[in-house]
Amino acid sequence: MADLIGEIQALDQKAAAAVGSAANAEALQQVTQDFVGKKGALTQVMKQLGSLSAEERGAVGKAANEFKLRFEALITEKEQQLTEARYATLAETEFVDMSVVPAEFAAVKSGAAFSGHIHPISRTQKQLEDIFTSMGFSIVDGPQVEDDYHNFGALNFTDDHPARDMQDTFYTTTGHLLRTHTSTVQIRALERMKPPLRIIAPGRVFRYEEVDASHEHTFYQMEGMIVDRKVSVGNLLHLMQTLLTEVFGREVDVRLRPGYFPFVEPGFELDMKCLVCDGKGCPVCKHSGWVEVLPCGLVHPNVLKSAGLDPNEWQGAAFGLGLNRLVMMQHGIEDIRHFMAGKLDFLKQF
Ligand code: PHE
Repeated sequence: MADLIGEIQALDQKAAAAVGSAANAEALQQVTQDFVGKKGALTQVMKQLGSLSAEERGAVGKAANEFKLRFEALITEKEQQLTEARYATLAETEFVDMSVVPAEFAAVKSGAAFSGHIHPISRTQKQLEDIFTSMGFSIVDGPQVEDDYHNFGALNFTDDHPARDMQDTFYTTTGHLLRTHTSTVQIRALERMKPPLRIIAPGRVFRYEEVDASHEHTFYQMEGMIVDRKVSVGNLLHLMQTLLTEVFGREVDVRLRPGYFPFVEPGFELDMKCLVCDGKGCPVCKHSGWVEVLPCGLVHPNVLKSAGLDPNEWQGAAFGLGLNRLVMMQHGIEDIRHFMAGKLDFLKQF
């Protein structure tokens, strides 16, 4: 028995040496394992307890517990030392000189390379906002996660309306959906503002699309709406013409076709001659030479009614500009997928 107690006491010296030379937290962990772990030195000693009397076992157990306490104190003290030492050198070991320009950015700093700029879609959006605010429009916003009522119901899509199929989208488990168009903001504006009103609502929209050169699941539109006592198709077309001439800085070839949207009557599709291929036909214009950029029409009486307005008193015109496509026409961009790709090679060009 005396032997076992002696062995335990002998561990003290060894432990002190081992703890003393542990250079970091991992090494200290290992030392702990070596002495008081399952297969550690103390366990080895305790395995021999079987041959002793109950009284002797008590004495050895006590010595073992005392050793453990001393050992823990040693470890705690060492841990503190290590932490302090780490903090003392932290400023040197982990110092980051924020003023150093990494080699790959050195060219940027010298002005020789691209240094970042606003996204081409944001830039055109801003340009349009300037044009429209100069014509007395206010800029309004709405949520991207919408309810059925604002995306469809109030826009005269009945529950089983086939036009809903053209705007399939992503639904949340709470029955909300990712808005398929910015026309939701027509409703939100009518709820908040009193006519006469003129608004634009730029923003991000989502559809469950087969993605290709001219279709994305996430894209940008800019809604426009006028509600006044007298609004005509002539007013609408003038507005569209002003918009395109300002954006392109010249007259562009357009054509007007009838288009169907439940929330306008009559409804139109305003197409632009494709500027990517100059009307010859390419993937962007689906080889037709024309690109749908400006669906529009006169606000349907049901929409006015659902906003509590008397359609005999008020009339409206609305459009839903496809921002991505407009920007594609502005810069001759041949694939809509570039916008979301986050590729600098693409962005650097604008
Ligand atoms: N919201 C329609 C769409 O995204 C476009 C539209 C807007 C049509 C306003 C007419 C008037 O397809």
